[in-house]
Amino acid sequence: MESRSFPGDFTWGAATASYQIEGAVHEDGRGESIWDRFSHTPGRVLDGDTGDVACDHYHRYRDDVALIAGLGLNAYRFSVSWSRVIPDGTGAVNERGLDFYERLVDELLAHGIAPFLTLYHWDLPQALEDAGGWPVRATADAFADYAGIVAARLGDRVRSIATLNEPWVVADHGYRIGTHAPGRSDPAAALAASHHLLVGHALGMQAIRSAAPTTAAGIVLNLSPQHPASTHPLDLEAASAEHAWLNRWYLDPLVGRGYPEAPAWAAGQVRAEVRAGDMALIAAPIDFLGINYYNQGRVRSGLLPSLEPSGDPLERTGMGWEVYPAGLVEVLEFVVSRTGALPLYVTENGAAYPVDAADPTRDPARVSFLRRHLEAALDALDRGVPLRGYFAWSLLDNFEWALGYDPRFGIVHVDYSTLERRVRDSGRFMGAVARLGRLPVDVGAGTGGSRA
Ligand code: FCB
Repeated sequence: MESRSFPGDFTWGAATASYQIEGAVHEDGRGESIWDRFSHTPGRVLDGDTGDVACDHYHRYRDDVALIAGLGLNAYRFSVSWSRVIPDGTGAVNERGLDFYERLVDELLAHGIAPFLTLYHWDLPQALEDAGGWPVRATADAFADYAGIVAARLGDRVRSIATLNEPWVVADHGYRIGTHAPGRSDPAAALAASHHLLVGHALGMQAIRSAAPTTAAGIVLNLSPQHPASTHPLDLEAASAEHAWLNRWYLDPLVGRGYPEAPAWAAGQVRAEVRAGDMALIAAPIDFLGINYYNQGRVRSGLLPSLEPSGDPLERTGMGWEVYPAGLVEVLEFVVSRTGALPLYVTENGAAYPVDAADPTRDPARVSFLRRHLEAALDALDRGVPLRGYFAWSLLDNFEWALGYDPRFGIVHVDYSTLERRVRDSGRFMGAVARLGRLPVDVGAGTGGSRA
């Protein structure tokens, strides 16, 4: 039987983020970001890893673009480092920083690869954090200025501009629990940050629209189904609260529904940061929504005894994340319930697995993971979801935030002692899917994927 096909104009890419791959943190006038400060603070990142060198993409971007072209992908999602472009977050523009992204974009275009640019993938200029960070409204204004500057220089050549990557992670991990930069644990600051991220997105959209009126502009959210761990009413209630905080907190305001009920940890907080007119501003139309999907959550109420360990029958990735392809269909359909015909992209999906010591390019578990999630993407298309593209996370093994270089997400292996790149089986698999426009017949025994 012929396997199902993706639409002919489907976007096939791989994704990265500036701090995770670039290195060159002191080069060409780049300023300090919160991830430089955080990773250099003892105890914050596993093994004391930092992004100082990372994949050295700043110097090797030409090779990396050739790699993407060699794989056969037609798109590349990357992020711009705000501190390269405006080293202090506001004020003087560093032209050499913009020049780097211009060279990258032109190199991509010369290889027929569509650039998908993200403005903010978590690396706030440290000077802005010192002035209060996202809990302070001025950060949203600064972001809009930055967005306009990048859009004016590159908007004519990039396929799309996303304002923010995963604002939920920024507010939750950065300001509420403090496991990410800037490492604060302050619920009130997290709530204020969440709102100012949305205001920043909205003002950033206006700046992009005026500097680059024909460029598609939108935002990228992380979504994850939150299922109750049992049928107990308290678990159902807890799962619904988690769903509100994780999946609706940003999406609902973006589509004009306002904020859902606040999570329990925020009970009693007065949301003084929400000003008259903000919700209408935030609900201004976007051209696309990017969705990052990795796993589902199984939610247990804190009021119930924890469930007996069951020997954990779940299939998990090297991150300990449950492999749950059906969740991709769920989140896409949930989004469509809010966004209708708005074009959607899976802007990240992928998995970390330990490196095969004998041959680091062999990664059958990742191939299987990608195959099953692409089957789910086909299911979503069959159900009418306006899905326009899919980006694997990640092009390269890279700096995985607080876990440093330990998790390996790349469809290309990076040897950190030589910085040599080697395409994994999963990279070849993604290239084959992009070229064929459908899933290749699964001939590899043990790759776990269903047969085409
Ligand atoms: C996402 C991030 C990305 C990477 C993956 C594994 O939440 O956007 O930078 O860390 O998770």
